[in-house]
Amino acid sequence: MTKSVSDFINEYNESGDYANLFEQLYVQTTANDSAPPWVKHQAHPHLTAWADKSKLSGTGKRAMVVGCGLGDDAEYLAKLGFNVTAFDVSATAITICERRFPQSDVAYVHADLFAMPQDWQQAFDFVFESRTIQALPSNISEKSIAAIASLVARDGTLLLLCHGRDPQESIAGIPWSLSRKELQAFSENHLEELEFDDVPEGNGRFFRVVYRRT
Ligand SMILES: C[S@@+](CC[C@H](N)C(=O)[O-])C[C@H]1O[C@@H](n2cnc3c(N)ncnc32)[C@H](O)[C@@H]1O
Repeated sequence: MTKSVSDFINEYNESGDYANLFEQLYVQTTANDSAPPWVKHQAHPHLTAWADKSKLSGTGKRAMVVGCGLGDDAEYLAKLGFNVTAFDVSATAITICERRFPQSDVAYVHADLFAMPQDWQQAFDFVFESRTIQALPSNISEKSIAAIASLVARDGTLLLLCHGRDPQESIAGIPWSLSRKELQAFSENHLEELEFDDVPEGNGRFFRVVYRRT
C-alpha cells in the first residue's frame, strides 16, 4: 500500500529515523512522478532575493548547500560563480540532482550532516542552510546548528532559512520551527548574527538570518 506523506511524517515523529524517512519520501514520490512537498523546482525566493540585494558573487569562492534536496539552490549558486558542493542524507535525492543537471559543475554528495568529511570543516566561504535544522527533531537542533556552523570558513557567511516561532510556543513535530533563543547556538559556535528578518508566511513566520564567522 502506498503511504501518504503524512503517514511517513507520523512514523518519523514516533521513530526519529530521519535518514530513512527522507530517503523513503524521495523514493516514493519519484515513483509517483511527483516530489516531496518542499520541492519547488526553483531556487528558494529568499535566497535569490537576498543574493540580489547583497550583490552576491561567487567568483573564486566555495559554497556549500546543506540538505540540498533536488539541487535548485546549488545550481543557482553555481550560476553566481561559486564552486559548489551540495549534500543530502538521501541517496535518491542526490541521484535525482545528478540526473536533472547532467552538465552541472556542482559536486553532489550523499552525506549525513552528523558524519561529514573532515576536510569540509571551515572550508566554505558561503553556506546555505534552508529548512534542514527544522526537519530534524528539536532535541537535536543544537547538534545540527554546531554541525552547520562548522562548515563556515573564517570570514565566511551563512544564510539560514527556517520557519520561526516564539520560544514559548510549543511544537509537536515536523517542521520543528526555531526560536531566536535556539538560534543563539550559532553564536556559541562563533558565528555572529549580521541580519535577522522575520517575515510572515501563511499562518506562521519565516526567519532569514545571516551570520559571519569572526
Ligand atoms: C525540508 S527538506 C529541505 C530541502 C531544501 N534545503 C529546501 O529548502 O528546499 C530537508 C532536507 O534535508 C535533508 N536532510 C535531513 N536530514 C539530513 C541530514 N542529517 N544530513 C543531510 N541532509 C539531511 C532531507 O533529505 C531533505 O532533502
